[in-house]
Amino acid sequence: MRWRYPRVIAHRCGGALAPENTLAGLRIAARLGCRAVEFDAMLSADGVPVLIHDETVTRTTGGGGRVDSLGAARLSALDAGARHHGAFAGERIPSLEEALALCAVLGVGANVEIKPSTGAETATGEAVTAVASRMMRRHADLALLLSSFSEDALAAAARTAPGIERALLVSRVPEDWRERMRRHDCVALHASASALDVAMARDVVEAGRPLACYTVNDPGSAGTLFGWGVAAVFSDRPDLFSPDDVGNR
Ligand code: G3P
Ligand code: MG
Repeated sequence: MRWRYPRVIAHRCGGALAPENTLAGLRIAARLGCRAVEFDAMLSADGVPVLIHDETVTRTTGGGGRVDSLGAARLSALDAGARHHGAFAGERIPSLEEALALCAVLGVGANVEIKPSTGAETATGEAVTAVASRMMRRHADLALLLSSFSEDALAAAARTAPGIERALLVSRVPEDWRERMRRHDCVALHASASALDVAMARDVVEAGRPLACYTVNDPGSAGTLFGWGVAAVFSDRPDLFSPDDVGNR
């Protein structure tokens, strides 16, 4: 696979510089020169993929309730900005479709992490992939990579649109990473930097698989990982990296 993403990918849209998983974050990432972002997509109660990390809205909006118990209209009425900083008050939880449309306009590649609420693994994989597929047809230049910790979600993604690239997302690189990647026809492996060592990294890299690591906020640590052959890091602090690191792909 040709790795089509820069060495540094803004985590949860704009990283720590904006409220996570928001369009404001995407715009800030683009202003910093980022050519790719990662964000999390979960289903609302009425089956709409929206950008949010947690299964409840509490931490990011100060509201209450599970994401899978609130309809898309209710979710989009919440304030997803003020908790980060008053300057972002009124920022909404975007739909996946809105986020991908903005990625296309900004020329920013997207790693869409399929983040199912408990029990909705297959439905989330299908719905996220269906939106991704529609948006890729609408925007031929949109670079898009699906990933998930959930193998059921990856299997659903592979059934729904086999042509969209997928990455297996893990915390620690498991012994059977080859078999798991093969099972879901994944092109890349995404793993936690904190659980990675040089031997694991070399194993993946020498097999010719792009390896991307989360979450790396220190350019020195990123440099060590790049030295091990890691293709990219997800970072909350894309502002600390060089224009080359965030901008080339
Ligand atoms: O996709 C990489 C990373 O985002 C996975 O962890 O919890 O930040 O979604 P998390
Ligand atoms: Mg994520």
